[in-house]
Amino acid sequence: MGVESMNVQFDFSGRHAVVFGGTTGINLGIAQAFAAAGADVTVVSRKQANVDAAVATLGARGFGTVADVRDEASVRAALAAAHDKHGPIDVLVSGAAGNFLADVNSMSSNAFKVVVDIDLVGSFHVARHAFEHLRKPGASVLFISAPQAVVPMPWQAHVGAAKAGIDQFARVLALEWGAAGVRVNAISPGPIAGTEGMKRLAPQGPEGDALVRAMVPLGRMGTPRDIAHLAMFLGSDAAAYLSGTVIACDGGAQNMLTPMITAAIGQGMATR
Ligand code: COA
Repeated sequence: MGVESMNVQFDFSGRHAVVFGGTTGINLGIAQAFAAAGADVTVVSRKQANVDAAVATLGARGFGTVADVRDEASVRAALAAAHDKHGPIDVLVSGAAGNFLADVNSMSSNAFKVVVDIDLVGSFHVARHAFEHLRKPGASVLFISAPQAVVPMPWQAHVGAAKAGIDQFARVLALEWGAAGVRVNAISPGPIAGTEGMKRLAPQGPEGDALVRAMVPLGRMGTPRDIAHLAMFLGSDAAAYLSGTVIACDGGAQNMLTPMITAAIGQGMATR
């Protein structure tokens, strides 16, 4: 294989990317990246004002519509509107999510359920009703997972349960939809600067930033662009044989216990 053929340029001209939750943060970054790569893009989220603001950044091929992923009928309507506007869907991103810090003892049943409903049941609604609109074969589905799916974090029981469910849902869908030529994968983003998630979960201010950076071997927080690059790769023909995977895009932070060992070695705890 020559070097040129490995230098993949993303070109999504004539392809349609639909991004649920695509009006803010990581998901907006993904929507903007697909638009910049020539795709027709539809963003879907709960608030009309957010949809309008996001569409204004997507150029002439941007389109948006309102839906709450918990509401199956509104998801179906949004997908039908997306198909009417831009045709069959080539890349579907399911990224709508909710989060707050709460320990199990102070969480109501409804508090646990609301996150599972948005993240996990919402992902089911999005994928389940998108299938009829996907361009088959060749379409790609991306779920946005989180480290909480595999790393137990206190005050994140609801999110951990929901995201672990998403990971397995993605793997099962890859099995079921492979025969139709549809690839299904998930991205697990690390700490991404400036996002709602970081505002809700991470200590704020310079000390907080330093603490988070210390957990990332690459020494910086990620950007929506970092995640968008992976999303474009997974949605492109370059990833034609990639399905049923959950990929961490986190600067190596999944190995976050490393600083603990490094500190121990620094204190002279190595045996020889
Ligand atoms: N601690 C404990 N319980 C909480 C809570 C908190 N910080 N925030 C909300 N809840 C509970 C509520 O009390 C309610 O339970 P109750 O009916 O027993 O009182 C339940 O969660 C639902 O809250 P509500 O505000 O009615 O839900 P909503 O649909 O308006 O909002 C959320 C959904 C809670 C997930 C909200 O945070 C949200 O909309 N988030 C979207 C953006 C986001 O979280 N982005 C980050 C992604 S990483």
